[in-house]
Amino acid sequence: MRHLLSAADLDRDRADSILNTAAQLATLQNRSVKKLPTLRGRTIANLFFEDSTRTRLSFEAAAKRLSADVITFTAKGSSVSKGESLKDTALTLEAMGAEVVVVRHGASGAAHRLAHSGWTQAGVINAGDGTHEHPTQALLDAYTIRDRLCAGAGNLDGLRVVIVGDVLHSRVARSNVILLGTLGAEVTLVAPPTLMPKGVESWPCQYTYDLDEALTGADAVMMLRVQAERMNAAYFPSAHEYSRSFGLTAARAQRLADHGIVLHPGPMNRGMEISADVADGPRSVVVDQVTNGVSVRMAVLYEVFGARAQVGAIGNAEVDNFIGGEPDAQG
Ligand code: NCD
Repeated sequence: MRHLLSAADLDRDRADSILNTAAQLATLQNRSVKKLPTLRGRTIANLFFEDSTRTRLSFEAAAKRLSADVITFTAKGSSVSKGESLKDTALTLEAMGAEVVVVRHGASGAAHRLAHSGWTQAGVINAGDGTHEHPTQALLDAYTIRDRLCAGAGNLDGLRVVIVGDVLHSRVARSNVILLGTLGAEVTLVAPPTLMPKGVESWPCQYTYDLDEALTGADAVMMLRVQAERMNAAYFPSAHEYSRSFGLTAARAQRLADHGIVLHPGPMNRGMEISADVADGPRSVVVDQVTNGVSVRMAVLYEVFGARAQVGAIGNAEVDNFIGGEPDAQG
């Protein structure tokens, strides 16, 4: 896989193989030495034109655990026009020998542009482009659902997943509809009519405006952040109104199947789309999502580097052998 730009780049076999590699890598998390030498001497650039805490840290941790060198660039609020600054930065990174670029950008399509512009030969991983896609988030969500509900293996066939909230502005929702569908889950979107994207009828999922009905018996619910920073108009009367109709409260969460879990990509607006007791409650897998994100991104980096040149295998034997080894010299 040369780039990961969209969840649609992943067919079922590829997605399964990334999730399986991630599961193997996850066993590193419990060891005191968390590093593998796989990408020693290779360079990854983290290019964040838009705010991010967990995604940037997660990619950084993933790269370091594979012993890669990481260059991080954050350019919030640059006054240079988006296209130009992306190009200039890409040329700089190319000159520095970055082989893989992880990019987050406010413009939908920025990752595609970078991958197909000829500005850089690097492999490109989309870490969120505008309201378009966020494929590694979808992978870590799928991983978390599989880990919790399918004993970490097999497929998501027939699982009912409800995605709720600001679908209009959500790249997380778009990537999840594609990936969870590829993996066999039945996805239902719930949003107020103003936050349901035009053309949703043609998406490969169901949609409704009735949260209570959609939640009944569902296996998982993913709450989306209300993305006030992307709203240029009033999409709902008040925060109170929004949370009354579309917020996940403890009472509403009871409608889920007994084993039903609650996901949120973060950052959460507690009291808005999710109540604090649900966010911290027994159904919540929000912290697992963050933990799993590192293993999943290691697996994606491994895959993208693997398309460029031979990298060593990662299997149980490699993980086990290395655990006994010396911590890697570089920090
Ligand atoms: C998401 C994003 O940036 O798209 N967050 C994340 O990656 N952890 C969702 C959001 O910002 O609401």
